[in-house]
Amino acid sequence: MPASLHLIAISGSLRAASCNTALLRAVQSVAPSHIHVTLFAQLAQVPPFNPDIDIETVPLLAQLRDQIIAADGVLIASPEYAHGVSGVMKNLLDWLVNTPAFANKPVATLNTSPRAQHAF
Ligand SMILES: Cc1cc2nc3c(=O)[nH]c(=O)nc-3n(C[C@H](O)[C@H](O)[C@H](O)COP(=O)(O)O)c2cc1C
Repeated sequence: MPASLHLIAISGSLRAASCNTALLRAVQSVAPSHIHVTLFAQLAQVPPFNPDIDIETVPLLAQLRDQIIAADGVLIASPEYAHGVSGVMKNLLDWLVNTPAFANKPVATLNTSPRAQHAF
């Protein structure tokens, strides 16, 4: 039996019918039993990034940071908006970039659109 793996999956789309979210849900459903995928589903609740605000005062973000630190890897699937990742995804990354969350963390980036060239 392979060692178990825990992955955090984050979709950069807030659309109810998002293809990127659907892709991550598909990964979750077809993953072999030793791979556990947790989908971060609170992106719409993440406040606008402000360096004056201590991440410890935003429980949602402090919890996500800790989950990523504890995880074996991260899956990010974001739509491309105006030649970049979605604003809500960039906002989340701004919060996390000043934490140890992604230090030495394997990250896989996915994009469901065949014409996207800039978002990962
Ligand atoms: C405001 C806006 C800007 C977009 N900009 C781009 C873009 O620059 N390049 C691209 O390939 N697609 C662009 N798209 C298309 C989306 O990236 C595409 O529809 C994506 O698959 C949507 O992902 P979702 O189904 O997960 O919401 C844009 C869509 C919107 C609404």
